Amino acid sequence: MRTLPSILRIVIIALIALFILQKTAATSNQWAIIENPTFLFVWLGIILFIIAIEVSVASLQRLLFHTLSEEAKQKYIAKQAEREEMRFSWLQTIYNKLVGKRKIRSEQEILLDHDYDGIKELDNNLPPWWLYAFYASIIFAVVYLVRFHVFDGPTQADEYNKEVAEATIAIAEYRKTAKNLVDASSVTLLTEAADLAAGKSIFESTCVACHRIDGGGGIGPNLTDTYWIFDGEIKTIFKVISEGGRPGKGMISWKNEIRPLEIAQVGSYILSLQGTNPPDAKAPEGELWKSPNTISEEIPSTIGDTLVKIE
Ligand code: HEC
Repeated sequence: MRTLPSILRIVIIALIALFILQKTAATSNQWAIIENPTFLFVWLGIILFIIAIEVSVASLQRLLFHTLSEEAKQKYIAKQAEREEMRFSWLQTIYNKLVGKRKIRSEQEILLDHDYDGIKELDNNLPPWWLYAFYASIIFAVVYLVRFHVFDGPTQADEYNKEVAEATIAIAEYRKTAKNLVDASSVTLLTEAADLAAGKSIFESTCVACHRIDGGGGIGPNLTDTYWIFDGEIKTIFKVISEGGRPGKGMISWKNEIRPLEIAQVGSYILSLQGTNPPDAKAPEGELWKSPNTISEEIPSTIGDTLVKIE
């Protein structure tokens, strides 16, 4: 007799526990119990605990029942049956109302005169759930018509554009906080000591073979003078490091080896070497670079295209 409500109780408490775990422990949109196996065990533990309580209570009840006198037992059983009946009677009433069940004694009462080659028709009421849904759809249609066709409410295209505009702003906000998402179009000169130190260590482990430890140049050009083959703008330098120099010259694309933030760091480090004038540096190559706002057109940009274009 007790089994159905017991299971219901277990399920409800399990769901509540899951919800609380999710609210308090989840760090992302994922389910907390999937994200972290510990929570899965905690949750399973809670479920086992409730089952244990339910089982103990049930057996305790059974024990007590056996201690009752015969008369009391009968009374108890009758009470239980009554309760069981009460439990779902309200549901039954709502259901009857929704489907519009009428008590009829015989079909004759609602039989219509129509007769289609022996097929007769009963005059049943329309189920109220259907009828109200129908009324609701009429009201909806009127509201819709007035809003979108009389007062020219926003079209789907308008809504789409609005959401895209919002998302574009959100992306821009996000990229401000996510340093690693820089690309050639958004990179700025990094000046913090930590970034420059990181750039230095990348330079010394990856670039010195061709540009020399002090940036004076070897196979690659001198990076400490004001002459640049491309130019001395951080955005251009980022582009050269990530996409490579002119084909066949020896400066390969580093974007698969070095992450965007690191490219920005090493690029900024290179610029910090400007004017250091190391001994026997390579002769200047390229042109004297002055304007800080020109971006070399020589290297086509392909990286920027993978990010959302802001229009
Ligand atoms: C295999 C040798 C080699 C390595 C390693 C190398 N470079 Fe270069 N680098 C070159 C050459 C050669 C050029 C000239 C490219 C050209 O003429 O198109 C160059 C050009 C450059 C330029 C453009 C200079 C200008 O005048 O416009 C920058 C910036 C640069 N390298 C940075 C780096 C960084 C940072 C690293 C390390 C991640 C690196 N390079 C590793 C050979 C190298």
